[in-house]
Amino acid sequence: MNLKFFKTAFFLAAIVLCFKADAQIIPIETSHNALVLQADAQHNLTTLYFGTKLGNVKEYELVPGNYKQNEDLSGLMASAYTPSGSRNLLEPAITVTHADGNNSLDLRYVSHSVERISDDVSLLRIVLRDPVYQFEVTLNYKSYFRDDVIEQWSTIKHSEKGNVILQKFASANLHLKASSFWLTQYHGDWAKEMQPEESKLTHGIKTLDSKLGTRANLFQPSVFMVSLDQPATEDAGTVLYGALEWSGNFRTDLELDPQDNLRIISGINNYASPYPLKPNEVFETPAFLYTLSSQGKGDASRKLQHWARNYKVLDGTGSRLTLLNNWESTFFDFDEQKLALLLSDTKKLGVDLFLLDDGWFGNKYPRNGDHSGLGDWQENKKKLPNGVASLVKEAEKDGVKFGIWIEPEMVNPKSELYEQHPDWVIKQPKRDEHYMRNQLVLDLSNPAVQDFVFGIVDNLFTKNPALAYLKWDCNSLIFNAYSAHLKNQSQFYVEYVRGLYKVLSRVRAKYPKVPMMLCSGGGGRVDYAALQYFTEFWPSDNTEPLERIFIQWEYSYFYPAITSSNHVTDWGKQPLKFRTDVAMMGKLGFDIVVSKLSETDLRFAQDAVKTYNQLKATIWQGDQYRLADPRGNSVAAIAYVNEQKTSAVIFNYLVNYRYDERSKLPIRLKGLDAGKKYTVKEINLYPGKNTDIKSDRTYTGDFLMKIGFNPNVNADRTSVVLKLDEAL
Ligand code: DGJ
Repeated sequence: MNLKFFKTAFFLAAIVLCFKADAQIIPIETSHNALVLQADAQHNLTTLYFGTKLGNVKEYELVPGNYKQNEDLSGLMASAYTPSGSRNLLEPAITVTHADGNNSLDLRYVSHSVERISDDVSLLRIVLRDPVYQFEVTLNYKSYFRDDVIEQWSTIKHSEKGNVILQKFASANLHLKASSFWLTQYHGDWAKEMQPEESKLTHGIKTLDSKLGTRANLFQPSVFMVSLDQPATEDAGTVLYGALEWSGNFRTDLELDPQDNLRIISGINNYASPYPLKPNEVFETPAFLYTLSSQGKGDASRKLQHWARNYKVLDGTGSRLTLLNNWESTFFDFDEQKLALLLSDTKKLGVDLFLLDDGWFGNKYPRNGDHSGLGDWQENKKKLPNGVASLVKEAEKDGVKFGIWIEPEMVNPKSELYEQHPDWVIKQPKRDEHYMRNQLVLDLSNPAVQDFVFGIVDNLFTKNPALAYLKWDCNSLIFNAYSAHLKNQSQFYVEYVRGLYKVLSRVRAKYPKVPMMLCSGGGGRVDYAALQYFTEFWPSDNTEPLERIFIQWEYSYFYPAITSSNHVTDWGKQPLKFRTDVAMMGKLGFDIVVSKLSETDLRFAQDAVKTYNQLKATIWQGDQYRLADPRGNSVAAIAYVNEQKTSAVIFNYLVNYRYDERSKLPIRLKGLDAGKKYTVKEINLYPGKNTDIKSDRTYTGDFLMKIGFNPNVNADRTSVVLKLDEAL
């Protein structure tokens, strides 16, 4: 927008405002909720209400009168997007330094419009402007009616005479009222992803954030829950889920304010990132995603999962490939002969695809360990004298598909890439290099590096059009953040992530649907911005099946089963059946030495793949119900129910191995049709094992949901899979 237009628009808007002296109410209603904003007579935009929607829209304006809280001295505590440096004295959503050096910002309502994108999706845009400076923010609320999901982001621009420095630039600013607030947050480390902690929020600010540059989830993902009034349970209580759609540094401030209300401000972390915004340049923040339920955590997660499948995850309603991966069976030690055997094992097992992991590249510095070769994406001539192409063909002959591992954002100092392009590497020019897994991160803010990374993927597909799958890994954090390409280092963290998305967009423009796994030394990078480009993610390198039940359980609150790649490995002491049952609760894969399986183990695995193929539609697209929580019970149980409620699969596991621990009580089912009758059959039995569960008996959904069903889990039957079908 040029200056003249900006001024004219501002003038016209001012006239419009004159005619709208009264408060104006802007409700965003979804199937169960309302987020109600109000522009008051002075055009301050505040949050009036966020909760279960009222029958009569007109009554929203009566809400504030019923709260007798402390006086709001600034009038901005409930601001819909809190500016700083003027009247506000609390945590701001936005802080700027204007072109003239002034640090104050005030944002007043100018106009709003609603675009109806479909029957289900609407986009509300609210324009706010500073009355003194030519500085404007548009708040965007994309609401998904059926799933009660809102994606909210901000668009920031100005037409001042010089750059404005954005000191803080949040995506969204929520304001919640309740008697108390309970935060569930997650922390972790390698092989310990998604460890939950719940605590009561006290006055002041609790910040969830990442400064890792990339793979934020290693220590703390941006996903969180806030329960209102009391900790929500699976099926009761009011709970908000939040997440930032951003794959880099994020920051979420949860401020319990002097009026006892909760202000939530989430966006890109402004740490080391004051961003210079040129006149008329548009800064669009990533979206902050949230959903609210008054029916407990289970309902909130089903809504989020449904939304994710239908609107966010690449090919979320499509299909996925089962696979055999060679990472844990060979590590770096393989050659064509070994791989030929693994390809025939893939066929023998009955899965769709063989996935060749790390170690297939590098010649001057062969990738025979994690010290060298990263960055040199040419087939290692010793290991693969006939190249990837011959493996793809061999796989075709065997009737399976072929996929491959890459880690294209990274470089080992011991590599030709590092020798040729030291300026492509993120490192401080005057300081010692610091490594994680002996590697450094490439500078994706540099377009030449973006071309290089895109080229890795493009070359693989151009040379091997039948290549059917990519595992995209990311093993290092960003230390010594510095780009030889950028003039202004304050832009580094933002431009790095933007560069990553540019590459991924190019990949998807050319290869729209090839399945790709989002992996990051385990589950170091899982978020809904990345999942627009990936079909699935790797939750953790920890595949010990007991541990995995807990990790998958926590991920499942936020991500649908179709996105969770679960592999059967040799981690842990549990039998193959237990390991396979756990891996089935998502997208099944194997990373074991098939040729070393006993005859019965092999038969079990082959049958399990066939069984999974029958169940996968329900697991991937059905509604997920958590029935028995592994924290606090000896048995964990999770069900997936298809949309028509005619079929369900229930996974039950013993998670406490003390004497006589077992399923003493029936486990109540959820999500069934009370009026339908169901048969209950135990499936995925180990060869030679029988079950006492009578598959010819029928139960009403009413019975199964009120009384429940006992899967007879005990020390001899540590995992039990049940299939429910409507009895016709
Ligand atoms: C880390 C991943 O999480 C593993 O699955 C494996 O691909 C290795 N990297 C390979 O280096």
